[in-house]
Amino acid sequence: AIITKIDENLYNRSISSKWSTSCDRANTTIILSLKNEVGSLVQALKVFQEKRVNLAHIESRRSKGSDSDCEIFLDCNTDREQLRELTQLLRNLLILNCVTDLAGVPWFPKKISELDLCANRVLMYGSELNADHPGFKDNVYRKRRKYFADLAMRYKHGDPIQRIDFKEEEVRTWGVVFRELNKLYVTHACKEYLQNFPLLIKHCNYREDNIPQLEDVSNFLKGHSGFILRPVAGYLSPRDFLAGLAFRVFHCTQYIRHSSDPLYTPEPDTCHELLGHVPLLADPTFAQFSQEIGLTSLGASDEAVKKLATCYFFTVEFGLCKQDGKLRAYGAGLLSSVSELKHALSDKARVLPFDPMVTFEQECLITTFQEAYFVSESFEEAKNKIREFAKTIWRPFTVHYNPYTQSVEVLKDIKSINYLLKHIRQELGIVEDTLYHITA
Ligand SMILES: [Fe+2]
Repeated sequence: AIITKIDENLYNRSISSKWSTSCDRANTTIILSLKNEVGSLVQALKVFQEKRVNLAHIESRRSKGSDSDCEIFLDCNTDREQLRELTQLLRNLLILNCVTDLAGVPWFPKKISELDLCANRVLMYGSELNADHPGFKDNVYRKRRKYFADLAMRYKHGDPIQRIDFKEEEVRTWGVVFRELNKLYVTHACKEYLQNFPLLIKHCNYREDNIPQLEDVSNFLKGHSGFILRPVAGYLSPRDFLAGLAFRVFHCTQYIRHSSDPLYTPEPDTCHELLGHVPLLADPTFAQFSQEIGLTSLGASDEAVKKLATCYFFTVEFGLCKQDGKLRAYGAGLLSSVSELKHALSDKARVLPFDPMVTFEQECLITTFQEAYFVSESFEEAKNKIREFAKTIWRPFTVHYNPYTQSVEVLKDIKSINYLLKHIRQELGIVEDTLYHITA
């Protein structure tokens, strides 16, 4: 671990006393506790360089708490926004290097609120766009993206999701996507999708001339499958994204793609989330399938997470299923792309049976159609296959999700297993009681 502690009291005191508006600048003091290791200070200072914050003064001293740590006192001049981003990045370093109670196991959230610690580690896009992004040269669009990125970065578990006053241009873009995809759903989407879509029209204002609000959609999902949405600024790492699924939390973008080409986006946007993912997330069996992938990823090795992320990609994003003898799409990447949805169900597509041991070796393509799609007989079947696959992923423990406390219990000793057994006995008691009443 390089950073072992950040003095947050100092940070909070600075926030409350020195700034009146977000544009004001103020002198700030940050104190970091570092492990006394080669390169640890350099790694921490890189964060200041990245955020272009000048340091006015640096001092170091041996930590009072531990001989192997040292404390670094840093004086800098920042505005409120810079300071927020700076402390977030420093906290990320703290988490990434956090020592867990399970030796050698990568850190993972144990409580739903701990998603706050990993939901902002955006890998791509966010508020900064690549040169090949359709909105790269559009300053108005980039400013709007910064607005959405800031909203997502400030979000904390339990907050209501900010309602957005979408601009006319954004509603028009959404309208084109909504209209064109709706022409295909009846013949291309799976039956679970078609069952839930009318409910979303009724309860969440899914309409061609209205972009649904994430808060309404999240409340709807909570009542149907227990999933909730959490706004995110852009792409998360597979590990962080899958960790959300373990708690039935779906990280969801809130911005709209660039208006220059409504039927193309190089990244997920709210059209992709609301039209591709949400109708399936409302299905209880699909929700459980998604959660199983998430739970399997917690504390798994980088190699195992990569395999799981590929299985996720070829099921939740690009999966096909067979219904009444016909191929249908359930993957969100397909259900939110007019051209690929048509392609995947045409005789030009290569379709293979979903088998995690084969699927994880398939290359995930982002800017072109997939070279192969994988078909499952049902979500139940896909879930069982993932469960079998999970047995091949070695972890020195298993996890159990407790829906009452929205936390993950690590089963690694007799005490924790006994506790779970007690719970299962109670559930079995209910089944026994019901059977008695039915057969009596
Ligand atoms: Fe997606």
